[in-house]
Amino acid sequence: MRVRRLHLTDFRSWREVQLEAHSGANLLLGPNGSGKSNLLEALHVCALGFSPRSRSERDLVRWGADRFVTRLQASRGETPLELAASCDLAGRKETRVDGTPGRLFSRLVGHLSVVGLYPEDLQYVRGGPELRRSYLDALSCQLDPNLVEPLREYARVVKQRNACLKEGDQRDGQMLEVLDQQMIEKAIPLLEARMDLVERLVEPVARLHGSLSGETESVDLFYRGSYGSEDLPRRGQALRDRLEARGRALRNAESSAQSTLFGPHRDELTILLAGRPARETASQGQTRTLAIALRLASAELLALHPERPPVLLLDDVFAELDGPRRERLAKLLPRGGQSFLCSPHRADLPFEVDRTFLLEAGAIRETR
Ligand SMILES: Nc1ncnc2c1ncn2[C@@H]1O[C@H](COP(=O)(O)OP(=O)(O)OP(=O)(O)O)[C@@H](O)[C@H]1O
Ligand SMILES: [Mg+2]
Repeated sequence: MRVRRLHLTDFRSWREVQLEAHSGANLLLGPNGSGKSNLLEALHVCALGFSPRSRSERDLVRWGADRFVTRLQASRGETPLELAASCDLAGRKETRVDGTPGRLFSRLVGHLSVVGLYPEDLQYVRGGPELRRSYLDALSCQLDPNLVEPLREYARVVKQRNACLKEGDQRDGQMLEVLDQQMIEKAIPLLEARMDLVERLVEPVARLHGSLSGETESVDLFYRGSYGSEDLPRRGQALRDRLEARGRALRNAESSAQSTLFGPHRDELTILLAGRPARETASQGQTRTLAIALRLASAELLALHPERPPVLLLDDVFAELDGPRRERLAKLLPRGGQSFLCSPHRADLPFEVDRTFLLEAGAIRETR
């Protein structure tokens, strides 16, 4: 699978631009602020249906314009694939998957595998639990696009349940029971997917972290549920029973808090480095190495799917690493696939690329 062409209109700093990509390593070279990360962001939006650095699609509209369009042409073997997304300042969205129109950006996921390594990834280790939840959910959806719908549904039911708890009215007792059941129904596939994914990630994250850092400190990942101190059952009826029991136990607390206090939206992925929570104790360098290991592990899992070797988006990842880590990362990057790298300096890259694009004054110039 490879990206052939990316076309942007009024996306971030780009008025109108087109890039014809090589099937190997593509370098986007240009000074700070020249729009390199914006190009990677557009690719990410087309492939995954969300921006890695902005919550609202409206932020992606070029200042002064009223609507962005990003269109990506790719191929899966001989079969062409086209993914397009647009949004205007009023938040009206449109998507196209091989010409078929739709509204939800989430329908873009599952056609083109992409893994991005971004400077902001440090937050996956350092930031709040919602970031690690979204790391797990985004990867789960890429691995199995059937999870996109339950995720949306779950968020909708929690919102409704919170509104019901806020009203705090006795007449809503029955309504709350119905919403409890709906919420648990939607939560189960999400929890199963997250717990399975964490189990699959433990080994590659630990191995890749070791290979990158050259250190022997242990790395471990745990899924911590918001369901009491005992381990969460992995499947089926036992999992359902636990969720129901938790709902009963928290009834009063939820009424006072006027919000849903258990469920996948309250859970946590804990990352332990040398037995301690990395969020609190990892140094800057260790945090960076862990974040890269999480991303490279995602790429490994996606690459297991023979039709979906991921396209790599590497946003200036080498600049912050010392010499030996740079070399080690270069060796660990999956070979043979397509990648887009950006950097202000060619010298930061520890390997040769297949095509270089110079970004200057709002335009892209290709050099070979
Ligand atoms: N909605 C927008 N409309 C117009 N310009 C924007 C918008 N959002 C961001 N920008 C601008 O885009 C410019 C380029 O951003 P980008 O992050 O792509 O640069 P970069 O080449 O990756 O730089 P660096 O090397 O510093 O990472 C920034 O100067 C920013 O102000
Ligand atoms: Mg950048």
